[in-house]
Amino acid sequence: MDKIRVGLCGLGTVGTGVVKVLESHQEQIKHKLGCEIEINKILVNDLDKPRDIVIDRSWLTNDPGELVENEAIDVIIEVMGGIEDTNQLMERAIQNKKHIVTANKDLMAVHGQKLLRLAKANHCDILYDASIAGGIPIVRTLADGLASDHIEKIMGIVNGTTNYIMTKMTDEGLPFDQVLKEAQDLGFAEADPTSDVDGLDAARKMTLLANLAFKMELNLDDVDVTGIRNVTQDDINFAESLGYTIKLIGIASMDNSKAEVSVEPTLLPKDHPLALVKNEFNAVYVHGEAVGETMFYGPGAGSLPTATAVVSDLMEVVRNIRLGISGNTYIDPQFERQLKDYNE
Ligand code: NAP
Ligand code: HSE
Repeated sequence: MDKIRVGLCGLGTVGTGVVKVLESHQEQIKHKLGCEIEINKILVNDLDKPRDIVIDRSWLTNDPGELVENEAIDVIIEVMGGIEDTNQLMERAIQNKKHIVTANKDLMAVHGQKLLRLAKANHCDILYDASIAGGIPIVRTLADGLASDHIEKIMGIVNGTTNYIMTKMTDEGLPFDQVLKEAQDLGFAEADPTSDVDGLDAARKMTLLANLAFKMELNLDDVDVTGIRNVTQDDINFAESLGYTIKLIGIASMDNSKAEVSVEPTLLPKDHPLALVKNEFNAVYVHGEAVGETMFYGPGAGSLPTATAVVSDLMEVVRNIRLGISGNTYIDPQFERQLKDYNE
């Protein structure tokens, strides 16, 4: 196979970044993979919308069938968002033997396990590193880099929008509504930013991380979630006066075969490493039985950081296709057994 053809679902903040990274790093990608990657079709809502990149108009379509049922396409990159319709579309794609790369944590937190099984049964990959902590390769770190360890705890800042808001409210005293608007303009926020503000986006990411780390099948109902909506400027100032800062922190821990996951505004001493994580940046602590404490830091949202994660996943899919080992990613044989045992 000297060329891999991609169908790109979505040409917004992340999709545009994917086109840019594939174009600007074309030679390096080709050299590493030994084959070319070509975008074949791009699914959008509005064919006439002005785009801030130059794009071959013949690539654009608003008919999903032109991607998921297109025999020329090997891999679908899903960066359009949405849950139920998108899930149906991804199922159709997998049934048509397409590999999937997605940045969609909403989809993966709700339908991920089912999609992973469907993909495995169809010898397809489904990779989703871009869906958690943007440019930080945290999914492959948990699945591969720390695969030999027992992960006991994950803790961190996994939502860029709320961290941006808390940073600007704390450091510059700016009002919540103004900084939320800035985060939206910068492309960090979800289409419906209430999922950022109310902690749901972080809860979805923590669920995915916990499932990967602890080999569980937790869902959102298992997560205690409080967002930042009720954190006032007075709360922030009071915390500051006592030497603390407030951050939206996700924690997933495993103790005696019982998993606990929470997302809530948390007081941190001002010199705590997580207190120093500013703006849209994310940081994730992973504590393993053998490795001890590790910390991963980087841009948690935004076009190019997220696109980098998408394209790296795409490159892994291509390597797996060429090695003939597709369909084995992030599925653990213990899943079925552990699900039965979980919290009984
Ligand atoms: P976005 O800027 O709103 O772009 C969405 C794109 O998908 C647009 O091009 C839109 O078409 C297209 N689209 C949406 N629904 C569609 C439908 N039903 N049919 C056809 N096309 C459709 O969103 P984004 O910020 O790039 O985020 C995309 C995904 O990545 C989401 O799952 C998000 O959670 C995830 N993510 C985002 C970031 C980030 O920093 N933004 C980071 C990590 C993960 P039009 O252009 O025609 O409107
Ligand atoms: N809205 C998300 C955030 C995008 O702010 O973290 C990255 O997943």
